[in-house]
Amino acid sequence: MSKALDGVRILDFTHVQSGPTCTQLLAWFGADVIKVERAGEGDATRGQLRDIPDADSLYFTMLNHNKRSVTLDTKKPSGKRVLETLIKTCDVLVENFAPGALDRMGFTWERIQELNPKMIVASVKGFGPGPYEDCKVYENVAQCAGGAASTTGFDDGPPMVTGAQIGDSGTGLHLALGIVTALYQRNTTGRGQKVLAPMQDAVLNLCRVKLRDQQRLERTHVLKEYPQYPDSHFGDAVPRAGNASGGGQPGWILKCKGWETDPNAYIYFITQGPVWPAVCKVIGEEGWIDDEAYATPAARLLHLKPIFKRIEQWTMSKTKFEAMEILNQYDIPCGPILSMKEIAHDESLRRSGTIVEVDHPVRGKYLTVGNPIKMSDSPTEVTRSPLLGEHTEEVLSELGYGAADIAALRAEKVI
Ligand code: COA
Repeated sequence: MSKALDGVRILDFTHVQSGPTCTQLLAWFGADVIKVERAGEGDATRGQLRDIPDADSLYFTMLNHNKRSVTLDTKKPSGKRVLETLIKTCDVLVENFAPGALDRMGFTWERIQELNPKMIVASVKGFGPGPYEDCKVYENVAQCAGGAASTTGFDDGPPMVTGAQIGDSGTGLHLALGIVTALYQRNTTGRGQKVLAPMQDAVLNLCRVKLRDQQRLERTHVLKEYPQYPDSHFGDAVPRAGNASGGGQPGWILKCKGWETDPNAYIYFITQGPVWPAVCKVIGEEGWIDDEAYATPAARLLHLKPIFKRIEQWTMSKTKFEAMEILNQYDIPCGPILSMKEIAHDESLRRSGTIVEVDHPVRGKYLTVGNPIKMSDSPTEVTRSPLLGEHTEEVLSELGYGAADIAALRAEKVI
């Protein structure tokens, strides 16, 4: 079956996580992704967090499926010439080097435009224009600068980062959307363009509801759905909200049966307005249905802590899955806290292709996260990540290099 991005060629100059997330997604949609890596070294993540000596790490393999790998020293003149040919024949160049690295290599936007005016040049950087634009940035820096850390955690603790890689993978997703949109616009303009996704901005985009709350706080001096209400004081910035829901339906994480020994025996419970009578029935507090202290969402905001304490007495008598089954019968929104172990064995995620087993010639079988975006006319088959330089000769031949040229580049240690 054909793929959505069949015929699109990507020059993948990305490394670590943010850029590779983006190009992996484009490869899953059918683009031919040619990853350019430094000869001998490759993407630093190949060797980071290794669990098997001499095998590409899971860090690398899980971010670089369905790509081809070419080794090329793009600082040597003959390497630059190969890169120029690649630029002339590709549709998109994606990079997430430190600011200025591409320019220092001699490939400014102007130079790339000269070589290929249709080229889309897509970049991840830590920050957009401003005081930090020249900084190198990793995941947690972006989480801190984008508003996630100051609003995550509990009121009496320090700022917290989240395990979800919203700075790296989150920005990669933003960049992928920018690239596909630029390809679409190129259909009418015939021109390439620059696409920039700064990590701070992408994190802030994902923290949009917290900027909403900042403005609500400035106007009303209180955020009634936050755990600080009604007993504690609000300062002048959005506080950390613990496990409170980010929306208008109060929620919290509650203990379930076995919590004493299982760190994930918990459930997320949402006291959605329309199902309040059902919640009361399930937990055996029918009197709360008409009690004016509990009957309306506004009244309940004053008593959220005791309400959740009482619901927890009920959830503690059930496993998280038993609680889910009962609550779902009443359409009460809830979700089990699933461990990575439980997710790895989840049959439905495997059936849908979101958890995939991949075979690798050096490391053997491993699990990865497949394409979370499902398209009826462009299915994804996850294939293993390339070995370093596995496709160098193949790609150079496609570019018109003969065996003697390739041998010369090898002798020069350019590839
Ligand atoms: N041939 C020759 N040189 C190459 C090359 C190749 N194929 N590929 C990379 N290089 C060079 C670069 O040109 C650069 O050289 P320069 O410093 O002389 O200009 C050098 O390798 C290192 O690149 P850099 O990006 O600075 O790597 P780093 O390991 O020092 O920094 C990051 C890593 C992630 C901090 C940095 O790349 C960065 O801030 N990127 C933007 C934000 C980002 O994506 N962060 C998230 C990463 S998940």
